[in-house]
Amino acid sequence: MNVHDSEKVVGTLVQEGYLQVESVEQADLILYNTCSIRDKAEQKVFHRLADYKKLQAEGKKFGVLGCVAQQEGEKIFERAPHVSLVCGSASYTKLPEMLVQLEGKSPAADSLPANSRILASLGIRDSVDHDEALASLRTAHEGVRHSAYNLVRITGLDDRQTDKCFETEFTARTNPHRGYITIIEGCDKFCAYCVVPFTRGKERSRTSESVLAEAQQMADLGYTEIQLLGQNVNSYRDPSGNKSFAELLAAVGEVAGIRRVRFTTSHPRDFGRDIVEAIDAVPSLCDHVHLPVQSGSTRVLDAMQRLYTREQYLERIGWMKTANRDISITTDVIVGFPGETEQDFSETLRLLDEVGYDGVFSFKYSARPNTPALTLEDAIPEEEKSRRLEVLMARQREIQIARYKKYIGMQCEVMVEGHNDARGQWIGRTSQNKTVNFTVCGGADPVVGSYVPVMVTRNFPNSLVGEMRLKG
Ligand code: 5AD
Ligand code: SF4
Repeated sequence: MNVHDSEKVVGTLVQEGYLQVESVEQADLILYNTCSIRDKAEQKVFHRLADYKKLQAEGKKFGVLGCVAQQEGEKIFERAPHVSLVCGSASYTKLPEMLVQLEGKSPAADSLPANSRILASLGIRDSVDHDEALASLRTAHEGVRHSAYNLVRITGLDDRQTDKCFETEFTARTNPHRGYITIIEGCDKFCAYCVVPFTRGKERSRTSESVLAEAQQMADLGYTEIQLLGQNVNSYRDPSGNKSFAELLAAVGEVAGIRRVRFTTSHPRDFGRDIVEAIDAVPSLCDHVHLPVQSGSTRVLDAMQRLYTREQYLERIGWMKTANRDISITTDVIVGFPGETEQDFSETLRLLDEVGYDGVFSFKYSARPNTPALTLEDAIPEEEKSRRLEVLMARQREIQIARYKKYIGMQCEVMVEGHNDARGQWIGRTSQNKTVNFTVCGGADPVVGSYVPVMVTRNFPNSLVGEMRLKG
């Protein structure tokens, strides 16, 4: 979600006349896009900003975007006085205006030639943190070259009640074959542990017409894979009243030229059987569903305010298991939520066995600002959370070894993503979202972005190995 936000911010600013650069050193304004979903995000942001402080002497300006910006607000100016702009995601539509303000307030800017922003530079870099288990927190940096420098402070923090989505036709997509489309922003669910409703504002969907127009535009540009995004993608409500989420999914899958459609993240409460029926009916919809469960204990789910029971969750799993297609299921789990007993935890382990996930992103509970869980008692000690996480990961590893073994001897269609020179293997992904590292026996090398048949020969807990089969 954050990576795609960065793509939209970059695209919008490039359209405004900024240019993108490769490194922070080359940039004059560094926009730091942040995520605060789990622990220590704030500290990391402040450390990173402190690292950049020395660049202030070169006249560079700094802005903080995203969840940490929204959460910490003007406190950022106090702790990092070299920052000039703080903007939450609900205010991105106003970013171009804010940058004009930032420049306009500078006496030096008045004397700049009108086309000076054309000479500007903009950089983006992504980094993935693996601090907790399989968690991936994404951050991005963007920089805008501008010779003016001042200490103006601009904030975009007041739009969390907005009904507007950040729509732009100028998204700077970083991958030419696979791209994201946000269909719903914000979240109204207020799970007890989660900061998102406080940082991303209330739930708001785009019209199905606008989503389909963007899908068509992407197909025209040669994209073959689309991922529909939302904090709760399946809570989608078409403001034009024309399509349910499942219908929109099917319609995107039917856009000529689109070969794969994914969607993430689904909330179990709003996960209807019609989604499974759509996957069965439309072959371009990928046979993979990420359905975060968070806990296998109804008692803990209730404390988490997840709005479903273990049984209701398993009912949804049942719909997928009885589908005609072999739907791969992945999930998110939080261990050590306040009050989670050994019995609750063992119910989560049993759930892993019962469902048979192909991937689990597991996290230790971390207290987040403003969230209802802050007031809960019976915090689980850090060492115990770590122990539970290790036990869970070890159990899931065994499950995945057994599950991935089944693919040996099977032929999969793989979208080629690149080449690993060190290992001499090509890297690809199946419709089920499994990574396949493969070699080519004779014949020409595959083209990145193409779809090729690969025979699976080996398995690891998180990936498959295979050989590309020549077509025909
Ligand atoms: N502590 C630990 N994990 C969390 N997640 C969200 N908030 C927290 C928190 N406070 C996890 C959930 C969610 C995923 C994106 O991050 O599992 O599904
Ligand atoms: Fe957070 Fe819950 Fe909303 Fe997901 S559904 S973004 S976990 S509050």
